[in-house]
Amino acid sequence: MIFEEKNINILLIEDEEFDVRRVKNTISPFSSRIKIVETFSNGKAAVEYLQSNKGEIDIVIMDYQIAGGLMGESLIQKIKEIDNTIQIIVITKMTVNISDYNFANKLIKAGAFWYCTKYPGDIEDYIYQPTDFLLSLFNAYEKSLLEKERFRSQLKLRRNVEDILFQKKIIGESPVMKELKEEINKFAKSNVNTLIRGASGTGKELVAYNIHYRSDRKYENFVIINCGSLPNQLVESELFGYEKGAFTGADKKKPGLFEIAHRGTIFLDEVTELPLSAQVKLLRVIQDGEIEKIGRTEKVKVDVRIIAATNRNIEEEVKEKRFREDLYYRLNVLPIYVPELKKRPTDIPLLIDYFLSNISIDMGRDKPEIPEETMKVFLNYDWPGNVRELKNVVQRILFHAESVVTPTLARRAIGVGELSQGQVDSNLADLFNPGSILPLKDFEKLIRERYFRFVRMNSNSDTEAARKLGLAPPNFYRMAKELGLKTTE
Ligand SMILES: Nc1ncnc2c1ncn2[C@@H]1O[C@H](COP(=O)(O)OP(=O)(O)OP(=O)(O)O)[C@@H](O)[C@H]1O
Ligand SMILES: [Mg+2]
Repeated sequence: MIFEEKNINILLIEDEEFDVRRVKNTISPFSSRIKIVETFSNGKAAVEYLQSNKGEIDIVIMDYQIAGGLMGESLIQKIKEIDNTIQIIVITKMTVNISDYNFANKLIKAGAFWYCTKYPGDIEDYIYQPTDFLLSLFNAYEKSLLEKERFRSQLKLRRNVEDILFQKKIIGESPVMKELKEEINKFAKSNVNTLIRGASGTGKELVAYNIHYRSDRKYENFVIINCGSLPNQLVESELFGYEKGAFTGADKKKPGLFEIAHRGTIFLDEVTELPLSAQVKLLRVIQDGEIEKIGRTEKVKVDVRIIAATNRNIEEEVKEKRFREDLYYRLNVLPIYVPELKKRPTDIPLLIDYFLSNISIDMGRDKPEIPEETMKVFLNYDWPGNVRELKNVVQRILFHAESVVTPTLARRAIGVGELSQGQVDSNLADLFNPGSILPLKDFEKLIRERYFRFVRMNSNSDTEAARKLGLAPPNFYRMAKELGLKTTE
């Protein structure tokens, strides 16, 4: 029975001895569980007590009219400000009209849980009809428990979001990056589809995280899908799901990523890689807010914000009819451009310092020093792989465990030159990261790029590098250019 389980702490605010006794009498059958922790005859003293004993009181029972300034609605509001989970029961004199709904409304609006009118003064044993009074106390206690629980889980969620935003912090104080951060804050507040453009490794995914976790959808799912990483025939079932028996092999139903992202955000990375049939369906989701599950006739309503990203020239894809124009316009409502690292050189030292600090901590070692002439090496470099490349370079530097990073070490880390076999392998290890599996063509590109650099670092000229790679020099230059490498040509 609910009456038997509870241990309830009460603070009583009442300035008439007679009424204090009547409240105590009313709850006395449950005195082992319901405790009047303190009694105050004025509002200010009660508020001070609550302020210095947070979390102790579950319910406040208060007389409406009470000596000493702070009383009535303002006292209720004050108590709720201190702890919103405290439930307040107001007892008033009979002089207040018992059918004064306006009065009741004002109390509830101020934050009271319940109110009742005291019995006439000739009744000494009870303040109010005892079972009603006790039932309300227990209900108030239940509500305080629920609100405490809700408060705790909100706090937890808020902390999680803060943690994520801390891990996904966008480093950069250059004017373009400041502008980008302002745009993110602005775009996060709106609910509109966003297209993030920018070269590989500039931080598009990071931007997507920041938009979601700064938006009102932050406590809902953030679902990431790399459209280029799925075989064409799987894209639609991943995005939209299917019903049991929709096709041979569909032995149970599968929710699509759009359903999982319901009320949250979906991040469609490399969106230009979507096959045309999936593009049609995506367009319908955007237009109607409904998904068509494979094998299901009725549609499923979803509320999902779409953030898409691409490092391709999407207008070119539209022109070549590989990407639907109508879809392009629907996605590109709020365009965001993440600039290349070489366009914001003042961010380079900040990023180097950021990754040096973080990765040193992860590796449990001291952060090495970067002298000015070493910083020049970083500043003069082009960073075709942008921030991702810079992060990898810092990682390589830290493998060397030097306390001062010399310009030579910096150059080597950039060029992956003269590294031992073990170090080359560990540099490859970051490509074998289950968290960021790349499409084969990107993987090949990265491997090629790294190998090109490695061979060039170990050659006296580009012609020699070309010869070592078994390439005719024009082919070598063309490929180096495609890989974003500077050549001497
Ligand atoms: N401004 C930045 N501050 C801190 N870290 C960054 C910043 N930009 C990028 N990074 C880090 O660099 C790496 C690459 O970033 P991200 O994956 O967001 O790039 P991307 O633009 O999505 O690249 P791709 O086009 O290759 O998918 C990540 O580890 C990311 O956390
Ligand atoms: Mg990315």
